[in-house]
Amino acid sequence: MDPDNDLPRTEAVPHGIPRTVQLPKDLSRLNDPFPLLTELRHIAPVVRARLHDRWNVWLVTSYQAARHVLLDTETFRSDHSWIAAADAKYVSPMRMGLLDWDPPLHTEARRLVRPAFAPPAVRDFADQVRRRCPPLLQALPPVGTADLVAEVIEPLVNSAVGTFLGVPWDEALGRGAAALIAPVDDDTARKHAARARDALAAHVDACLSESSRQRTSLLARILTEGGPGSPESWLPRGQVVLQMFVAGRQSTVDFLATLIRGLTGTGTLARLRDPGAPLASTVEEYLRHDGPIVRGVWRFAARDGHIAGTPVARGDTVLVSLAAANRDPAVFDCADQVAPLGRPDPHLGFGAGPHYCPGAPLVRVMAGTLVTELARRFPRMSLAPQQRDGCTTDSVFRGPRAVYVRPGGEDADA
Ligand code: HEM
Repeated sequence: MDPDNDLPRTEAVPHGIPRTVQLPKDLSRLNDPFPLLTELRHIAPVVRARLHDRWNVWLVTSYQAARHVLLDTETFRSDHSWIAAADAKYVSPMRMGLLDWDPPLHTEARRLVRPAFAPPAVRDFADQVRRRCPPLLQALPPVGTADLVAEVIEPLVNSAVGTFLGVPWDEALGRGAAALIAPVDDDTARKHAARARDALAAHVDACLSESSRQRTSLLARILTEGGPGSPESWLPRGQVVLQMFVAGRQSTVDFLATLIRGLTGTGTLARLRDPGAPLASTVEEYLRHDGPIVRGVWRFAARDGHIAGTPVARGDTVLVSLAAANRDPAVFDCADQVAPLGRPDPHLGFGAGPHYCPGAPLVRVMAGTLVTELARRFPRMSLAPQQRDGCTTDSVFRGPRAVYVRPGGEDADA
């Protein structure tokens, strides 16, 4: 048996109901977390789970319960200051910015940044992605093997997202960002991450001033406008944009890698090059089936409440497993399979409610452009023999570290 995929151990089982499920490892470190998530959903729509051998949380596994928690923002807050005092030491230093705010601060901050993610700005972003993609693909060898993550996906996402946010990519920034998305499972890791976060937030702040001056990023301009009541007076812009950069960049790299590996491995890529092909619904279906956020999104109970009939106390931590919810068979037929034409029900890969991912249109633009360009240029592309199935990562996100392909197809080397 793969030790990664051990089924959960449970504590005493009074009346047949497991009290606490011991998660074997951080979910993002499992090669294939889905058997475990299915097992947990079979136990209940919300289970008591123990993370890192010490932190008890409510793990939400069903689609309906997940939507309930994400939409009941009065009970389930994003601000981690609602957490019980004894658990406060476990919270990630990356809980800051929009993800960690509730109304009215959150509402005001979303209103402020909205123009940067609105359709005109997304159209500019799409133009930028369409310009950046072809040179990267032209550099791929028509014969032989290439790693699409290192040679195309990372450079594309680093440059496009970096420019959009006003934080130009460089290697030092990349190393710092990687440190911030490593799972924080002990005090040393937490202190290390907090130091790296403060240094990077100061760097990002300086980048925003420069990008605003050069007018290369609308978001940077919005966040650095001066004058009375300006964002500078109430919004820690370095932290806010650092969080967007750290979380948005790696999750997108991981998702694009999963998508391209899946489409290439199943021979579907070439079929998506035509204008009438179901490209958009295919992208959504991959987000549902194997999105990058495998562990889940966090909420903290501001008052006593219920999730799917289970009582939850004020101060409790709730971890909403988007990955488990997105494969709930009560909502998605044959949930473990990718449906070629997408699904009628909306997936939760970008969340739901007021914290719904503002970067979703950017991800769709990058995915659509990359798939179309790859399919046009390399219709015979196949996976190389060294490609592996797993997704073991060093970060809290899930996606293959490499996607080895033969751009010209299996016969190209002959
Ligand atoms: C495939 C890639 C991505 C996925 C799957 C994803 C998923 C998510 C999810 C599930 C949330 C909600 C978190 C919650 O409810 O607590 C979220 C929030 C957020 N995402 Fe994304 N995201 C992706 C890419 C991006 C990108 C590229 C950006 C920006 C450049 C971005 C910016 C944000 C921001 C700022 C928030 C916080 C919103 C708020 O709290 O109001 N994301 N994302």
